[in-house]
Amino acid sequence: MRLLRPRGVYAPQEDTELLAQAARSELRTLRAQPGVEVLDVGTGTGALALLAAECPGARVTAVDISWRAVLAARYNAWRLGLPVVVRHGDLTKPVEGRRFDLILSNPPYVLSPAPVRGGADRTWNAGADGRQVLDRLCARAPDLLRDSGVLLLVQSALAGVDATLDQLQARGLAAGVELRARIPFGPVMARHAEWLEQQGLIAPDERKEDLVVIRAQRS
Ligand SMILES: C[S@@+](CC[C@H](N)C(=O)[O-])C[C@H]1O[C@@H](n2cnc3c(N)ncnc32)[C@H](O)[C@@H]1O
Repeated sequence: MRLLRPRGVYAPQEDTELLAQAARSELRTLRAQPGVEVLDVGTGTGALALLAAECPGARVTAVDISWRAVLAARYNAWRLGLPVVVRHGDLTKPVEGRRFDLILSNPPYVLSPAPVRGGADRTWNAGADGRQVLDRLCARAPDLLRDSGVLLLVQSALAGVDATLDQLQARGLAAGVELRARIPFGPVMARHAEWLEQQGLIAPDERKEDLVVIRAQRS
């Protein structure tokens, strides 16, 4: 899909594609059900929300904290003729009180020594442990799932897979690793490689990371 991507909006990449792969399989099981509700948290260009909107009968809502992303996703949905409602706001705040069958999220998860600034930085920078957004997502998303509802999120293994699984399990979800892919560092990770080495988070000269899709289901 060719999507409009204004400056400062995240370009869909390996993590988007890995999550899309897991989402496609989830959407195949949901497509027979009427009134399926899907939420995409941190939608960027809307790539994942648009994928979900191709599922017949799905009602798709997308959220982003960046107005540029919101406007890009709205434009992309309109251009493709796909029904996605795109809301501006922080994580799940714009959809509080609603319940979903499927929640997708590719949140910022990159470990960084510098504090989070605005603009493009907010698309990937997640603080020194990479969990600035992940922890808040793990705290909020479970309450928005319907019975049997599924949360799919993608993150770097460097940001702590066990921390995510523990938090989701503590909130009553059955959580596990669904997909894993080892990819070379992108430009941002490459810039932080020396710092990651100093923190003991990667081995000297290690320049690859594992991306992980976590699947968590409400029973
Ligand atoms: C890694 S990008 C993913 C974009 C898109 N889902 C994709 O996979 O191509 C993360 C997105 O989350 C958004 N974001 C960051 N913090 C957020 C927050 N607190 N609430 C909502 N969206 C947020 C960013 O603006 C960015 O669009």
